[in-house]
Amino acid sequence: MQFLSDVSLEAFNTLALPARAANFCTVHTLPELEQARRHAQARDWPVTVLGGGSNVVLVGDVSGLVVRMAITGIETVEEDGDVLVRAGAGENWHSLVAHCLENDWYGLENLALIPGSVGAAPIQNIGAYGVELAERFESLEALVLDTGECVTLGPEDCRFGYRDSVFKHGALPPVIITSVTLRLFRQPRLCLDYPELAGVLAERGPGSVSPRTVFDAVCRLRRQKLPDPSLRPNAGSFFKNPVIDGARARSLARRFPDMPRYAIPDGRVKVPAAWLIDRCGWKGRRLGAVGVHDRQALVLVNFGGGVGKELLALSAQIAEDVRRCFGIELELEPTVLGAEAYTGPESE
Ligand code: EPU
Repeated sequence: MQFLSDVSLEAFNTLALPARAANFCTVHTLPELEQARRHAQARDWPVTVLGGGSNVVLVGDVSGLVVRMAITGIETVEEDGDVLVRAGAGENWHSLVAHCLENDWYGLENLALIPGSVGAAPIQNIGAYGVELAERFESLEALVLDTGECVTLGPEDCRFGYRDSVFKHGALPPVIITSVTLRLFRQPRLCLDYPELAGVLAERGPGSVSPRTVFDAVCRLRRQKLPDPSLRPNAGSFFKNPVIDGARARSLARRFPDMPRYAIPDGRVKVPAAWLIDRCGWKGRRLGAVGVHDRQALVLVNFGGGVGKELLALSAQIAEDVRRCFGIELELEPTVLGAEAYTGPESE
């Protein structure tokens, strides 16, 4: 395995933002990962792991060692009539979803075409069209950065929430996820609650809906709205959908009767950030090299030559308008990296 220095990360993040890694390596196996860990530890370097680079905003160069995760492999075990699928952290998420469907291991169809790697999936508890990773999650294996110990973490350890987990909060000793095990089903278990998905499938008529048709419909819906990162660099949703208390939702609904809202079990209400941003007039707007996608207001796009600072400045303007108009705080969804080199738009 080679350790390289001063490496461009532009090709390793789907926003195509320019930033450099002080040091960089690609790991294909657990022993290589352990070698990288020791190499960094001996030099007192912080370690940053990059999977597919589809949920990061690089706002500056990254110090220490950047490890590109490329551990692959898919294994299965039968348990209680289910299939436990264990996939290496470096596997591509969508390829895993397609592979499972081809083998009649059901349960991931709604999560088709989400960009990124398997190892990144638990970090933000990926979710789409009514299913979250947490609902299929069995366990994960990880390497503890300080000690090199391999640990297995279950759902309670991961503390999954909406686009959230313990890994976003540094609550554990820092770890690197090396594999993820999912519990999938031998018999189709269709999840058709998401209104938009239910709508397109209803056109097919009852009885004709299968895991394959759900997979195809999700792919079609995503392709219609979400820009292909290889053509229009982006990181999916740039903000989380805000959750507000019931009273506030009722008062906003009186002012904005067409505001979509989804009650969640704890009595609070989730509001689509895309609608708030759209309503503030940001959809399709461009500021220099970056802008808001014209078919999905939650997605910010690098039109070419944009830098992380510009994107964060754009997102700050959007958040400010949403705050002023609705009194709602938007929270960034992707992880910001290289921030130690970043001083913020206000200081310029
Ligand atoms: N809407 C607008 N304007 C827009 C886009 C959407 O008003 O430009 C409204 C729609 O009419 C709809 C609502 O916003 O009522 C929700 O839109 P959509 O169904 O497209 O979903 P979303 O809330 O924008 C979330 C996830 C996506 C996921 C989709 C489908 C988050 C932050 N985003 O988006 O996840 O694919 O639902 O399940 O939860 C991601 O995390 O990167 C991501 C793309």
